Amino acid sequence: MSFKVGVFVGSLSKRSINRKLAKAIMKLAQGSGLELVEIPIGNLPLYNYDFDDDYPPEGRALKKAIEDVDALIFVTPEYNRSIPGSLKNAIDWGSRPWGKNSFAKKPSAVIGTSPGKIGTAVGQQHLRSILSFVNSPELAQPEAYIEFTNGLIDDDGTITDESVRGFIQGWLDSFEDFVGKVTSVTQPART
Ligand code: FNR
Repeated sequence: MSFKVGVFVGSLSKRSINRKLAKAIMKLAQGSGLELVEIPIGNLPLYNYDFDDDYPPEGRALKKAIEDVDALIFVTPEYNRSIPGSLKNAIDWGSRPWGKNSFAKKPSAVIGTSPGKIGTAVGQQHLRSILSFVNSPELAQPEAYIEFTNGLIDDDGTITDESVRGFIQGWLDSFEDFVGKVTSVTQPART
């Protein structure tokens, strides 16, 4: 069985190392039971609840993109020991209007890369807390904190370090298994 997975990239930078990582993950997932597609967040206005009565097209498109997939992957940098405001803004859009939270019961996994040794670990804990609140079942293990080094990912999206590549492949395999288990409960008609 294959699952559609929406990918959020937390950085809006054209040079983003997390975007490079997302590309590498998409490449690794080819041929697996996970079909990855990016959910863009860069065009969203800043959320406030005055929009709740009539969401703009960007907000509606985001909610539809989340609702159209079986699961979500978050590839995000750590900014000031948390997640970037752009990603938090996107999650706020997806979680509202009240009672229409698009994240509910959507299994998720979190990964990120940083040049620092603790590779986004603190930011990921914030994201996990947010995902718990929006009722998204999260892959608990393995955790994936990727230290970014020069040349780790080439322009084609190949991870050049065999052990890192193997680790991320294992993380993806675990997520596929997890999504299968969660959706067998949340979408029993599929199984
Ligand atoms: C950072 N960076 C950073 N790194 C880290 O490990 N922990 C942190 O808290 C922060 N904080 C932080 C804040 C801001 C505003 C910026 C711009 C950067 C460094 C960060 O890991 C590095 O710039 C990465 O390249 C960011 O990932 P993207 O945006 O390239 O994907």
